[in-house]
Amino acid sequence: MSLEGKVAIVTGSGRGLGLAYAQELARQGASVVINDVDSAIAADAVASIEATGGKAFAVVAPVGSTETAKLLVAAAVESFGRLDILVTNAGVLRDTVLWKMTDEDFDLVINVHLRGTFTCVREAAAYMRENSIAGRIICIGSPTGQRGNFGQTNYAAAKAGIVGMVRTWALELRKAGITANAVVPVAATAMTATVPYFAAAVAADEKDEAMPAFFRHDLGFGTAADVAGTIAFLASDEAANITGQVIGVGGDRLQVWSHPEPVVTEYQDGGWTYDALAARGPGLITDNLQSIGEKFPPLPEELRPAAAPTA
Ligand SMILES: NC(=O)c1ccc[n+]([C@@H]2O[C@H](COP(=O)([O-])OP(=O)(O)OC[C@H]3O[C@@H](n4cnc5c(N)ncnc54)[C@H](O)[C@@H]3O)[C@@H](O)[C@H]2O)c1
Repeated sequence: MSLEGKVAIVTGSGRGLGLAYAQELARQGASVVINDVDSAIAADAVASIEATGGKAFAVVAPVGSTETAKLLVAAAVESFGRLDILVTNAGVLRDTVLWKMTDEDFDLVINVHLRGTFTCVREAAAYMRENSIAGRIICIGSPTGQRGNFGQTNYAAAKAGIVGMVRTWALELRKAGITANAVVPVAATAMTATVPYFAAAVAADEKDEAMPAFFRHDLGFGTAADVAGTIAFLASDEAANITGQVIGVGGDRLQVWSHPEPVVTEYQDGGWTYDALAARGPGLITDNLQSIGEKFPPLPEELRPAAAPTA
C-alpha cells in the first residue's frame, strides 16, 4: 500500500467525491480524518472505512473558520499521531444569475470553498513545516473556476481563487518539500445529479451500471471513485516533484490544465494611449479572443432526457 503510515484529512467527506477520496486514501493505507456538517453521514463514512480494515475518525464541524481548521489538524495529531495529507473538498452551491445573487449566496459559497480552503491549508502547512513533514496539499477546483459558468458567480470566484492560492502555496511551500496541487473533478454526485445533460449517466450510476462511453470518454464524466485514484497518487511519495499543477480528472479522462499565459505580447513606444489602442488594439484583441464557458457536444439521441432540453 502506497500510503501506509500516513495520516490524511478530507473535508466534506461524508458523501460524494470526498467520501470516495477518503475511502481510497484508507485503501492505500492512510488513516483518515473524516469531516462533514452532517453527523450521520460522517459516522457512516467512518464505519465504511473501518469495515474494510482501515482507520478513520470523524470531526463534525463546518469548514470555513480557523476554529474548524484547528480542530481538524488537532484531531489528526491526537487520533493518529501526525498529519501528512490534506484534501480540501467540502463544498456547497448557491447558483443563480448575477443580478439575482444575494450577499448571503455569495458569502456562503466563498466562506466554505475559498475561506475553508485557506484556513485549513494554513493550519496544515504550519503543522507540516514545524514538524518537517513533506506533506501533500490537494485542493479541489472546478471547470467553472477554469472557464466560468452561467449562474455561478460565487462558485467561479471561489474555485478560480483556490487555483490562484495553490500556485502561490506551491512557491511558498517548495523549500519545505510540501506540494500543493489542485484537482478539477467531474463526477456523478448530488452536485451534478440534477443537471439534465448528465441524466443518463447519473441514472446508470444510481443503478450501479457502467456509464455510457460518451460520458466517460468524450465528456470525462464518471463516478466519484474514478477521481479518487488521482487524489491518492498526488498524496503519495511518487508525486514529490508535482506541485503547483491543476489536474482535471473524470471518467476515463485525465487533463493537465495550462496556467494563464499571454497569447499575444505587443509594445507601443510611450505606452498604450487611447489613440494608440484605437489604431492598433482592435486587431490585437479581437483577433485573439479567448473562449468562455465550457462547450458541451450535443448529446447523442439515445442519451437525451425525455422532456428536458439538451445543455
Ligand atoms: N461533482 C462534480 O462533478 C464536481 C465538479 C467540480 C468540482 N466539484 C467539487 O468537488 C467537491 C465535492 O463535491 P460533490 O460533488 O462530492 O458534492 P456533495 O454535495 O455530494 O458533497 C459535498 C459534501 O460537503 C459537505 N459540506 C458542505 N458544507 C460543508 C462545510 N462547511 N464543512 C464541511 N463539510 C461541508 C456536504 O455535507 C457534503 O457531504 C466540491 O468542492 C465541489 O465543488 C465537484
